[in-house]
Amino acid sequence: MATGDLEPVPMRLDHLAGVLELGHRVFDVSVMPYTSWSLSSVAVHLDAQPDACWVVADAGRVVGFVLGSLSYDEREDWGYVEWIGVDSDYQGRGLAATLLEASCQALFAAGATRIVTDVEEDNAASIRLMQRNGFTDKVTVTLFVRHASGPRQPKQARKTPTRDPAKARLHAVARKQQPATSRAESAS
Ligand SMILES: CC(C)(COP(=O)(O)OP(=O)(O)OC[C@H]1O[C@@H](n2cnc3c(N)ncnc32)[C@H](O)[C@@H]1OP(=O)(O)O)[C@@H](O)C(=O)NCCC(=O)NCCS
Repeated sequence: MATGDLEPVPMRLDHLAGVLELGHRVFDVSVMPYTSWSLSSVAVHLDAQPDACWVVADAGRVVGFVLGSLSYDEREDWGYVEWIGVDSDYQGRGLAATLLEASCQALFAAGATRIVTDVEEDNAASIRLMQRNGFTDKVTVTLFVRHASGPRQPKQARKTPTRDPAKARLHAVARKQQPATSRAESAS
């Protein structure tokens, strides 16, 4: 699919704000409650694996991005494409496919023997994107949820800052560990 003049470029520090803002618009993190979108999510990726982080900008405005990293859980030779998003005005032009390819090539070049990504079952665009770009459906994980019974007062909720998902992710990446839920993978 033609992408016009819009080509992926390696993500830079001055893209951070644009990536963060676009992610807030396109991601529905409520469908994957084990993850969260924040400045930390972006910065950790750029810090750890800058070559796997790419953006597409139009007249200086970020309209698409992908954030990848090397290592998945304790598997240091697995790449992980965790975040990919394209502005709704730019979707359907093949931008995500070119971003995904750039990130995957960087991860394979960095030593990944396979790349995993997780896709929510109702995300038709993401499923199609992965299927069209070498990812095969590998493992399906169902997140079962049990709610607390009875009313729960906010003041009774424990404040556990270290459980902030963004911070937990920061620590996980620092330890070269990532939360484990995978559905698709691509082998080099
Ligand atoms: C998923 C997403 C990144 C795809 O971006 P995109 O630039 O539109 O994708 P592409 O144009 O490269 O299209 C990739 C494939 O998906 C298909 N596709 C795109 N949108 C689709 C949709 N809504 N439904 C079904 N298929 C769709 C395209 O037709 C294409 O398939 P093809 O090669 O057979 O034609 C974009 O929809 C998005 O940002 N969604 C919100 C964020 C998100 O859910 N990200 C993934 C989880 S992190």
